[in-house]
Formats: sequence, C-alpha cells, structure tokens
Amino acid sequence: RHVRKPIRHDAADRHVQGNAPYIDDILEPEGTLHVVPGGAPVAHGRITRLDLSAVRAAPGVVAVLTVSDIPAKNDVSPVAGDDPLFVETSIEFHGQPVFAVVAETRDAARRAVRRAVIETAEDKPLVDVADALKADADIMPPYAFRRGEPEAVIAAAPATVAGTLRIGGQEHFYLEGQVALAVPGEDGTLTIHSSTQHPSEVQHVVARVLGLADAAVEVVVRRMGGGFGGKESQASGWAAMAALAAKVTGRPAKVRLDRDDDFAMTGKRHDFLVTYRAAHDADGRIEAVDVAFAGRCGYSHDLSSSINDRTMFHADNAYFYPQVHIASRRLKTHTVSNTAFRGFGGPQGMVFAERLMDDIAWATGRDPLDIRYANLYGTSERNITPYGMTVEDNVAEALMRQLEASSDYRARRQEITAFNAGSRFLKKGLSLTPVKFGISFTTTFLNQAGALVHVYQDGSVHLNHGGTEMGQGLFVKVAQIVADEFGIGLDRVRITATHTGKVPNTSPTAASSGTDMNGMAAKKAAAEIRERLAEFIARDWQVPVASIVFRDDRVSSGEMSLSFPEVVKKAYLARTHLSAAGFYATPKITWDRPKATGRPFFYFAYGASCSEVTIDTLTGEFTLDRVDILHDAGRSLNPAIDIGQIEGGFVQGLGWLTMEELVFDAKGRLRTHAPSTYKIPTARDVPADFRVAFFDNPNREDTVHRSKAIGEPPLMLANSVWCAIADAVHALAPGKAVALDAPATPEAILRACMAQTGSA
Ligand code: MTE
Ligand code: MOS
Repeated sequence: RHVRKPIRHDAADRHVQGNAPYIDDILEPEGTLHVVPGGAPVAHGRITRLDLSAVRAAPGVVAVLTVSDIPAKNDVSPVAGDDPLFVETSIEFHGQPVFAVVAETRDAARRAVRRAVIETAEDKPLVDVADALKADADIMPPYAFRRGEPEAVIAAAPATVAGTLRIGGQEHFYLEGQVALAVPGEDGTLTIHSSTQHPSEVQHVVARVLGLADAAVEVVVRRMGGGFGGKESQASGWAAMAALAAKVTGRPAKVRLDRDDDFAMTGKRHDFLVTYRAAHDADGRIEAVDVAFAGRCGYSHDLSSSINDRTMFHADNAYFYPQVHIASRRLKTHTVSNTAFRGFGGPQGMVFAERLMDDIAWATGRDPLDIRYANLYGTSERNITPYGMTVEDNVAEALMRQLEASSDYRARRQEITAFNAGSRFLKKGLSLTPVKFGISFTTTFLNQAGALVHVYQDGSVHLNHGGTEMGQGLFVKVAQIVADEFGIGLDRVRITATHTGKVPNTSPTAASSGTDMNGMAAKKAAAEIRERLAEFIARDWQVPVASIVFRDDRVSSGEMSLSFPEVVKKAYLARTHLSAAGFYATPKITWDRPKATGRPFFYFAYGASCSEVTIDTLTGEFTLDRVDILHDAGRSLNPAIDIGQIEGGFVQGLGWLTMEELVFDAKGRLRTHAPSTYKIPTARDVPADFRVAFFDNPNREDTVHRSKAIGEPPLMLANSVWCAIADAVHALAPGKAVALDAPATPEAILRACMAQTGSA
C-alpha cells in the first residue's frame, strides 16, 4: 500500500535540481512575443489624455493593447463583473493596468512601457479601512450572525473586556509570479499555459474577453511555484492579457509579471479593523460577544464576499459564545483588490478570538490556557456555532491537553514567570492556542470534483483530475490513492498536467479540499476500471468476482495469478473499456446564507501549537525559542507531505503575524513592493527548537482513507507566536491589557512595551 506512507513529492528531485519546468521554463514556440502591462500613475482619478505613440514607436514593439482592442468584454472578474482587464477612463488603484506592450523581447517591452504619457485628473483615494469606514464606502452589503442579545448582556454585565485590533494583510510572495503563455491554434482556438489554481475560470475569462466559446479555449497547468490563494481568481487577468496579445498578433504571447508589478497589481490578504466587547463570568467563561469586522476589500469584489464570510465563520475559533453578534462590513478602497490567501479570511477571525481569550486572562489574572479551556466548545448546548452548525467532531480539548503535557507547558510557565521576575529588559512569553478550521467551500456548489483515469495496454496508468499542483503535494497523494486502488506500484501511475480538455468545469484548488475531492473522484474512476478488470478476469478464470484480489502488482484468485499488465492486456484483447471518469460531490453540506443557518462544513480540522518567545523590551526584537505543534491530519495520507504543509503553513503564518508589513502611502501607492522593503520569513526564521507531531484522529466523516485536509489550517498555528509575544509584553505590567496589533514587528512590539509601561 502507498497511502499513509511518507512518500516524497513526485517532483521533489526536479524541484531541487531546477528541472521541474514552470511556465517560463517551457520552451517557447517559434515567434513568441512578450507582453508587459503599463499601470496607472495614480490611485484614483480619470485619464484625461493617453498618448502611446512613443510606446508604439519603440524598438521591438509589435503591438500596444488597450481597452479598444478587446473584442468582447472588458472583464476578468471571478464573480461580480467589476474587474476590467484595462482601465477605460476611471482609475481605481495605483498600478491598475491601462495598456500592455507586446514586443519581440521582454526587455524591449519593459523599456517601451516607460514611454507612455498618461495624464490624469486625480481624485483623493480611500486608502485604508479607517478612511473607508469614515466614508461609509461599503463595496457590498454588510452581513451578520446573531444569537440572543449580546449587547444587552454586555451592558448589564459586571465583568467585561473591550478592544480594538488592527490585523495586517499579506503579500503571497509565491516564488513563481503571475505568468501565462497563450498559443493560438487552428480556427481561432487558443491553448493557455497558466500558473493558476483555477484552470476552468481562466478558460471562462479568456473566452469572455475574446468572445470565444469555452470549448475553443484549453487551459493547461502542470504546476505552480506556489499559489497560496493568490492564483485562485487573480491568475485570469494575466492569462486574458496573453490571450488578447495572441489574438491580435496571431503569434504566441507570454505575460510574466516582474516582481514589483506583481506586488503592485495583484491582491493580497485582507487587512481588518476589529472592534469588540465581551462579557464573562468570574471564572473567565464568556457570556456574550459583540464583534465587528471591517475588512479592506480593495477596489472590486473579487472573492471578498466569501472571504469576509469565512472571517465570521472563524471568529469563534474553537470557542463557544453563548450570546453573540458577529458583524462584518466589506469596504471599498482605491487599492488592489484583496483576494484569497491561505485560510481565506479565517485566520483574521481566529486572531480576534485568541486576543479575546488573552484579554479575559489579563482581566481575571488567570493563566490564558485555562481561560481557553473554560471556553472551548463542549457538549449539548455548548456545541452550536454562531451560524447554527453543531460541532460534532470536537477534539480540541483532548488535543490541547496532549500538547500541554508534551510541551511541558505548566513547568515552563513557572520557569518563565521566575525568569521574568529576575529580568528587567528581556521578557519571556508562552502561549498555547488551538485551531479549528472548517473544511468545505462555503459556496456549496464548488464542492465537486472530477477525474479521468486511463489504463494502457502495458499496465501503465494515466492519471488526471481537476486539482492543480502548487507544491502542496496533491498530485502524489492522488497517485498513491489510485495506485492502491489497482494494487500496483506508484511507478506505474503517470501524473499529468491539469487540463480543461480532460476534466471540465472544475472548481479551484482551494479551501484545502484538493485531496478530499480529487482524491475521491480519482478513487472512483480507478475503482470502476478495477471492477471491469475483475469481472473480465473472473469470467476468464471461471471464479467468483469477489475472489479477485489486486495486490503487489498482481491480480489473483486463489492459485490463479497474473501480473497487472498481463491482465490488462488480456482484458484489452477481450474488448474491455479501460478508461473511466470519476465524479465526487461532498455530502452533507448545506448553507442558507440569507438565513445564516446550515452546515457549511463537512468537518473541522484541528490543531494546537505552543510557542515560547523572548522579547527585548528596549528594541522590540524577539526570538522564537521553541515551538511545539500537534496537528490533526485525520489519518494522514502522506506524513512526509503533511509535515511539510504543517511546517510551511506555520512559517507562512509566522511571517504574516510578525514580519510582513504592507505599507500604502497617503496617495495609495504600495511602498513595500519588493523583498528589499517587504520582509518574509526565510529558512533562518524557522524556530531552532521545532517539534511537530500528528494527533492520532481518523476522520469520523467518510473522507478518502479517513484523512483530513491539511493545506490551510497549519497557517493559524502561528497564532500562538503572536499571543506569546503579547504574553511577554504583558509581563511588563501584569493585569493591564496589551496594545499589540498584528503584525508584531519590532516597531509594534516596542510601541506595545512603551504603552504597557506607560512610557509612550
Ligand atoms: N503549499 C504549497 N507548497 N504551495 C501553495 O501554494 N497553497 C495553500 C495550501 N498549501 C499552497 C500550499 C492553499 S491557500 C491551499 S487552499 C491549499 O494548499 C490548496 O491545496 P489542497 O487543497 O490540495 O490542500
Ligand atoms: Mo487557498 S486561500 O483556499 O487558495
């Protein structure tokens, strides 16, 4: 068997040797042109004059594209119809594409872009959430979950906490930036190689912009050099730009964004302003919560509706709020359109929940871990979420207790308290936080997947499905599942590129559901072929079908046995169909958004982490001394891949909460648009003492081999680092609430320290 074995990523060797081809490594077809977009010089305003004559005259330029070259629709949006490929007249963010240069080389295109003359009548942009709130600039209607009358409870309660919290955004910083290669085919058709998590949407968007039938556009994705949500909706525009260039010139065309352009022109994680009040009893048990999330959506809808919903779905994290009001406003700003990013809004909701726990701990003088235990979802009345779903699979407490013991939390708490008493400038902090993350797309129809499996006459297997590979190990997991279905070696299964011509109408590879859904679809397809083989060989051998066993590369029944290829060959000669399509739709889920009730998630994935930090209260710097993680991958399909997802997700969350800071100036220009000014974690930021283990917990729902989704939840394990930093700041003046936002950069930590000691 292959499932549950720590099998390396199918392209691991090629990744490290540099010969796993990404889009820009594909040998360019003869005559390939290079496309570079030209962006708006202001964040908000109107174009009063656009003179591209010098651009057209520049050396190597073959064409210059603007809105007037678009044959059908100037819209590359995923849902709402509000993302133009090129600005018509009104500019919505700094760097918004106004035109694109198509040239013989990338260098020529980049030089030509600079010759554009764009004159504008500038308006004052709305830049951050506070601006947008003041202007009542909601981009879509607000939304809320409510149970009971928390406002009244809080108003009458003797013990309350309240606060305001800013949570920063995050740039995806995928190593392979946005890129697409469009190759014109016969009779107006196009083949697009796109670095996208959503090939079907690229297909639709290209067809929409060019006025083609979906069937005239094929999209191929072998792999991405990271997506992290940034290529769920926002790969489409660049593919459409390449496609338009190919259409206009009749030659293959490639768009590959420069890193600075990628920063300036693509959406990021939503940043939030959170205001909250809560009432609790003497033991720190919550009675009521009233929280309002204001999210910066940027200039257009993109996926912001679902993303802000997910913030609300996770504003409880693992905790029960008896009476609750979770309000959400989605705000328009003149900045890039914020988009999916690992956790899809969930992490921001959970950061709030963890701050709330710490606030109550600070107010009551209790250990924050005990406050967390006191508020976990429980049984009967205490297991219903603010959106009416019963938490049936709750393992948070068992998981946290196990981590509390294995991380030696209580003893270390004592040591840290003693250390802090004797250390004036260095303070230590410790925090243990849970993760409970809902698995399924909350847009219910997206929870479907397809696969296509062929068995060839030599017994080799061609595997295809609608999921895309972005480094997360989806392809090897699905290959393991299929190999086991046939009882054959993994080397017989050929992993192939995602292709809209093989499996149609696919959902994005997102919401961590890639393996759950595509693994099931592929398993069904393989099982169907296996059944046909079993029926054939049972007839041939005159034995019952039920006696046929597929194992160790052989097909057997009692004494009778042939190799898998031998059976396949015989079956082929007897005219057996050796190809099958599989389809899977996630069961049990329902969601009525207007009524805010249902069961939007098939199940929850759990985890917990315990982090210890030391901060320097004079400089704001911190060290991450030790991290212990216990994570629920269900019954892990591939422990090697899953450990990689846990460690990688954690470090990405660590970057979000402690290092990465997006700075837009008052004119709406992103000042942090390259690694020189935007700091992401590197290998050196991985905690020196990093202990990662699985929580043994087969999925109680019927998922593929009882596994659980792993892609996003581990990002939120980094919450304990942020809370540990706050815990260290708290040691400066115990009992006083800490004023620390996210990210906890050294500057932010220093400010929080000064506020804590009253020296600010
Ligand atoms: N891991 C790597 N190496 N690269 C990525 O881009 N994206 C994450 C996660 N893990 C990502 C990753 C995100 S945002 C999601 S939704 C899932 O992978 C998607 O893949 P899955 O559904 O197969 O887990
Ligand atoms: Mo992941 S944010 O759902 O692509």
